[in-house]
Amino acid sequence: MKTIKGVSQAICALFILYLGAKSFGQEDLDMAPMEESEQNALYSTIQGFVGNWWNGSDLYPDPCGWTPIQGVSCDLFNGFWYVTALNIGPVHDNSLSCSPDLEFRPQLFELKHLKDLSFFSCFLSRHKHPVAIPTGNWEKLSDSLQSLEFRANPGLVGTIPTSFGVLKNLQSLVLLENGLAGEIPPEIGNLIKLKRLVLAGNSFSGQIPNTFSGLNELLIFDLSRNSLSGPVPLTLGSLTALLKLDLSNNHLEGNLLQELANLKNLTLMDLRNNNFSGGLTLSLQEIHSLEEMVLSNNPIGGNIRSLKWENLQNLAILELSNMGMTGEIPESISELKRLRFLGLSDNNLTGNLSPKLATLPSLNALYLSGNNLTGVIKFPVEFYIKMGSRFGAWNNPNLCYPVGEISPSYLPFGVKPCQQEVKLLELDSKTKLSNVGMNQISNSMTSLGFSRNATNSFCWTSLLEILMIIGLSLRSHIAL
Ligand SMILES: *[C@@H]1O[C@H](CO)[C@@H](O)[C@H](O)[C@H]1NC(C)=O
Ligand SMILES: *[C@@H]1O[C@H](CO)[C@@H](O)[C@H](O)[C@H]1NC(C)=O
Ligand SMILES: *[C@@H]1O[C@H](CO)[C@@H](O)[C@H](O)[C@H]1NC(C)=O
Ligand SMILES: *[C@@H]1O[C@H](CO)[C@@H](O)[C@H](O)[C@H]1NC(C)=O
Ligand SMILES: *[C@@H]1O[C@H](CO)[C@@H](O)[C@H](O)[C@H]1NC(C)=O
Ligand SMILES: *[C@@H]1O[C@H](CO)[C@@H](O)[C@H](O)[C@H]1NC(C)=O
Repeated sequence: MKTIKGVSQAICALFILYLGAKSFGQEDLDMAPMEESEQNALYSTIQGFVGNWWNGSDLYPDPCGWTPIQGVSCDLFNGFWYVTALNIGPVHDNSLSCSPDLEFRPQLFELKHLKDLSFFSCFLSRHKHPVAIPTGNWEKLSDSLQSLEFRANPGLVGTIPTSFGVLKNLQSLVLLENGLAGEIPPEIGNLIKLKRLVLAGNSFSGQIPNTFSGLNELLIFDLSRNSLSGPVPLTLGSLTALLKLDLSNNHLEGNLLQELANLKNLTLMDLRNNNFSGGLTLSLQEIHSLEEMVLSNNPIGGNIRSLKWENLQNLAILELSNMGMTGEIPESISELKRLRFLGLSDNNLTGNLSPKLATLPSLNALYLSGNNLTGVIKFPVEFYIKMGSRFGAWNNPNLCYPVGEISPSYLPFGVKPCQQEVKLLELDSKTKLSNVGMNQISNSMTSLGFSRNATNSFCWTSLLEILMIIGLSLRSHIAL
């Protein structure tokens, strides 16, 4: 009896031990063993951004376990929790919001497994409390950091620290719409794992560094909306993986690079609103992957026929307004079956309009205004109906539409009816009159948003497209 009792007691004890061990194991994971130094570094870093009222150890005693902090992610390394992502700013309803007198604390750099650091709409006060990016200590994050993003922080001022050049594992560097200025440090060229480099919407000046030739994994390169000047360095031709190149809205000058032909995967090239010149570089026709080519508002000049447009079969958006281009619109453009937007306004284009343009199956915006096109527009009525206000041909004084063939509600805006040749003599005074009339219409159209400005009309079409998509999705909801 005794032995049986002893055995059962032993079994019972073992069972309890087993249960205990099991639940301890569970607890082990749930309780998130975290080095105190890591935990305190996290608390102090966040407190620097959200204000001293925020007491992390009170509010979030177990930040990688049962009291998670919005915007903080953790991962296990050697049985301990470490912070891997820190996203500051009002992304979600319950995100931590930034204090007006925020600061970078040095403890940020103690988070030794930090992979992803981002700030959205956090540094807001450019005048009362401007903050600069810390220059030192980035080497402490050089092994771990893969993504560093500052978006929409007008109060983030100063320059890009040259010490960013040590972040050798960085795949994404996004400094979008902040108050940063100065030159782009050449050291950015050390970040050879970069897939995305976005410095748009700051006040960067000086030239684009010529040190980027090693960035051969780069997919997105966006320096738009800054004050960069000078020529584009030849080394951009080495960014062979590039999908998107956006240098628009700067003061860049010089010729379009021959080397752009090396970018065999490029789908978007946006160089609008710069000071590029020297004509359409022949190598442009080699970039067969291009879907969007936007070169408007540059004194590029040259004859529009110098390129074999039919080579660019993937083009959906071709925006060449206000470039000082001459020549006749080539028929080869009407072979671009995917073309949705064609902008050729405000050039010196001459000659007749090929009726083949109206056969482009995907076209939904065609702007030809402000040229010297001549003759009769021979588009079918259905074309005017389909395009509506997204067809623009005004300010071509020698262009006309055939009288009587188009119903008055679809008449091309700002284009005059063709006159019979016999009436030519009495024309002079009439043309003056009708020109005055047309200018008035033109002005009221402009105030409605139908600007003859190419960039605006571009935005306008995008807006229309968005409205159409919203309309469609609403309809599909109703159908459901
Ligand atoms: C947070 O609160 C605890 C007591 O609840 C206090 O000991 C600690 O000093 C506070 N920490 C900070 C950073 O204010
Ligand atoms: C271009 O894209 C293709 C298909 O996505 C890919 O296989 C190729 O490696 C890319 N080229 C470069 C130079 O990255
Ligand atoms: C544009 O570039 C030309 C040289 O091609 C230069 O003479 C001119 O000053 C530049 N214009 C601006 C506004 O920078
Ligand atoms: C373009 O036309 C304008 C007049 O509309 C003229 O002043 C200018 O010299 C022309 N430019 C070229 C390159 O032909
Ligand atoms: C437009 O072209 C006609 C000839 O087709 C020419 O007589 C006229 O001078 C040109 N106008 C401008 C502004 O270049
Ligand atoms: C075109 O746009 C620019 C800048 O967006 C503006 O300054 C200019 O007045 C516009 N021109 C017209 C004719 O609307």
